[in-house]
Amino acid sequence: MSTPPTANNPQQSPILIMAKRAALMRAQGRDVIDLTLGEPDFNAPPHVLVAAHAALSGRLTYSPSNGIEPLRHAIRMRMRMKDIRNLDYADDQVTVGCGAKQIIYNAFQATLKSGDEVIVPAPYWASYPAMIKMCGARPLIVSTTKEEGFRLTAEHLDAAFRLAKSPKWVVLNAPGNPSGSLYSRKQLLAIAEVLRRYPGVMVLSDDIYSEIRYTNDPYQTLAAVAPDLRDRILIVDGVSKVYAMTGWRVGWGCGPTPLITAISSVQSQNCTQTSTLSQLAAVAALTGSQALVKERNAIYRQRRDSALNVLGACEAIDVECPEGAFYLLPRIRTIKDDQAFALILLEAGVATVPGSAFGMPGHLRLSFATDESILIAGCERLVQKIKASI
Ligand SMILES: Cc1ncc(COP(=O)(O)O)c(C=O)c1O
Repeated sequence: MSTPPTANNPQQSPILIMAKRAALMRAQGRDVIDLTLGEPDFNAPPHVLVAAHAALSGRLTYSPSNGIEPLRHAIRMRMRMKDIRNLDYADDQVTVGCGAKQIIYNAFQATLKSGDEVIVPAPYWASYPAMIKMCGARPLIVSTTKEEGFRLTAEHLDAAFRLAKSPKWVVLNAPGNPSGSLYSRKQLLAIAEVLRRYPGVMVLSDDIYSEIRYTNDPYQTLAAVAPDLRDRILIVDGVSKVYAMTGWRVGWGCGPTPLITAISSVQSQNCTQTSTLSQLAAVAALTGSQALVKERNAIYRQRRDSALNVLGACEAIDVECPEGAFYLLPRIRTIKDDQAFALILLEAGVATVPGSAFGMPGHLRLSFATDESILIAGCERLVQKIKASI
């Protein structure tokens, strides 16, 4: 019997694979602490749930592929806010999809062809290279170092451009998943300087964690720092992380009209739109009280610090303090194979994601979007296992 065709060889997310294994073991009654998923353990804000309930009494019809107008409007108002981005987008420069993930995929699908390249700094969110490959293109991975705060530097970018044959996109993600690093205005200005020398190349500015930050400095995004490049930048964001609305599947893209139109066209031919109910809930999230965002960030920060206390006390662990998002990326000095070690850890009762999935062999990714006492217990198990294996 012939094997079924696997178009473009799509790969399962390594994050979801580890999460699934952990869930299976728990279903079998095993005591496993799951630190795999980048999924807040909170619920959507109460006023969002109220709005969603109210919306159920109306007819939930198809919406336009680029989203309902009130949501596009709410996104534009939010992008315009001084402390958010201070950027003005016209209505046809905004599109809504089934999460930021689908916006990114649709953007790549609309613009990439075989032989094209996308410059992706490591550590990277595991889905970027997978999506790029599914669109027939090649991820050009650029390594960054701890000393550089795991950020893409202008020098790295320039070197990558000189290596590339057909570069189409550069990926910027801040706060980064899994690094948690932010870019300063100065760093982005230097990156912009390089980008000006390569006019045909687009920039994916994945700002999905922009409102989960632990510094008081204003958020810096390339489109605001280098307005002359705005026609080449796609900003993506969504409700999943900041409002703990992962399952509602609402994300958006803001960028130049032709690209936004192309993204909406791809969307119109695959799932038409994201759920109308979810879009109405997202309007409530964006326009209602933002008090919970601050409160939850304070909780994430406390968890981050508690986890760092446990991990930092172990000599075999080298770990940085993230400026945003909710991940830790410890390097385990004593291991050779992070994938094998993640499986050993799983057997010991703590589920993590091997750093190789993010272009960071020798590391593990731990999500601290989980209850503090569980998180601390998970970190303690990790430390015990490392000590036992030295
Ligand atoms: C860096 C990054 N971008 C995009 C996404 C996708 O988010 P969404 O739930 O909006 O699809 C994630 C989710 O983990 C992420 O970590």
